[in-house]
Amino acid sequence: MERLSGELKILSKEEKEGIDEARVSRDEEGDGKRKLYIESYGCQMNFADSEIVASILKKEGFVTTSDKNQAELILLNTCSIRDNAEQKVRQRLRILNATKKGKSNVKIGVLGCMAERLKTQLLEEEKMVDMVVGPDAYRDLPNLINEVETGQKAVNVFLSREETYADITPVKLDTNGVTAFISIMRGCDNMCSFCVVPYTRGRERSREPQTIINEAKELFNKGYKEVTLLGQNVDSYKWKNSQGEIEMTFAQLLASVAEIDPNLRVRFSTSHPKDITDEVLYTIKKYENICSYIHLPAQSGSSRILELMNRTYTREWYINKIDRIREILGDDCGISHDMITGFCTETEEDHKETLSLMDYVRYDYGYTFYYSERPGTPAAKKLEDDVDLETKKRRLDEVIQKQRQHSLERNRRSLNKVVKVLVEGFSKRSEDFLQGRSDQNKVVIFPKENYRKGDYVLVRIDECNAATLKGIAVEKELV
Ligand code: SAH
Ligand code: SF4
Ligand code: F3S
Repeated sequence: MERLSGELKILSKEEKEGIDEARVSRDEEGDGKRKLYIESYGCQMNFADSEIVASILKKEGFVTTSDKNQAELILLNTCSIRDNAEQKVRQRLRILNATKKGKSNVKIGVLGCMAERLKTQLLEEEKMVDMVVGPDAYRDLPNLINEVETGQKAVNVFLSREETYADITPVKLDTNGVTAFISIMRGCDNMCSFCVVPYTRGRERSREPQTIINEAKELFNKGYKEVTLLGQNVDSYKWKNSQGEIEMTFAQLLASVAEIDPNLRVRFSTSHPKDITDEVLYTIKKYENICSYIHLPAQSGSSRILELMNRTYTREWYINKIDRIREILGDDCGISHDMITGFCTETEEDHKETLSLMDYVRYDYGYTFYYSERPGTPAAKKLEDDVDLETKKRRLDEVIQKQRQHSLERNRRSLNKVVKVLVEGFSKRSEDFLQGRSDQNKVVIFPKENYRKGDYVLVRIDECNAATLKGIAVEKELV
């Protein structure tokens, strides 16, 4: 009898509770201190924000815990990007409320994008929430906590034009000790019509460069070997002096971080196709330790849809950028995408253009979504969400299937080649194997031998599937 895969899947604790995509704070030492539990959803920037929050609350005498039952302050750092992201948080709030029942000293706060989007409405809808704090108001947390401790509800959702938390050293919450993320900017000014981020995160602002370089240096001195510079649109990073002249571009920042040490790998995310410059591409080429990998979200392959999305580039412009990347960095540069299927008015023709764009680019990896209308966005106000769910999902599936083929094809290019891997830890399946990433951001698994977490290892690849490369450590690079 044929075995049905997937039928008898054993759920982990996280999957059972519906928090498999969330990051949970870890246990910190600190007897007698107040315990803080933070669960974080959404993007890397949100995860980085939770580390800022932990840092602010550390000064208030809190230590983090991974056990919600131990905590007197429970924080959910939330995401609004799609409806299901918000539904997940609402479901979690219900579970956490059960934790809180009967314990009057336990307080629950909602942070992040959902707090910003819903504001006080969240207090009305979710009765168990004590505190609502938007992404630019974390410095106010000590005051807000004082307020809730007197039995009141507390809210601060003011968005700022300046706040970058530049001076706050994040407390690492969930770390392998090898790779870390650094926020270099906040907010977004792009106004893509489908996107809620400009409303939840406010105006774009860049962080003072020296604080970024110092944070990277500090991480390297602590043994970290890779930093990823984060922003919604990193290519529009700029730091201006008091006369308003540009003192540092993104390319220059990238170079400054790369110059800290050749053994510190540098990555970045996300690049917007309209803003990524040749200067950035040449900087990647110049420094061996800047990874040859670019996440370049397309969102659609149809110029008509791209215009409705207000992405401000056409299919041809996007293809031009891809050609430029390949010209300057070669065919081996890793490229990934974000793609949305079933955006307002999307026809079968438009969808085919997305598939044909994928055929042209042959991406290494892709993050794929079906369109989810977000209240208050330009698309929600002006366009009709007129593609039915079934069609959205079918098109999504076609995009995923195509991506799988391309990922496999791109991974096969590494067969019999030697790649440099930064080891992040044991492989998920076995402690006899180590797992790390190549320059192109591909997951590589190989037998442990005497290698350790944090080592750079040359691995000859002799097996692969669409998701991973497998190989064996070798002494030298093959020519
Ligand atoms: N700043 C990044 C993206 C941030 S959001 C950029 O511009 O590329 C991450 C991804 O979520 C987006 O690239 C998009 O593909 C997806 N996304 C955003 N809003 C969405 C919506 N309303 N429905 C479905 N997917 C969405
Ligand atoms: Fe959203 Fe567009 Fe900004 Fe990305 S660039 S965060 S998709 S508005
Ligand atoms: Fe989500 Fe906010 Fe990030 S909406 S994707 S957590 S910026």
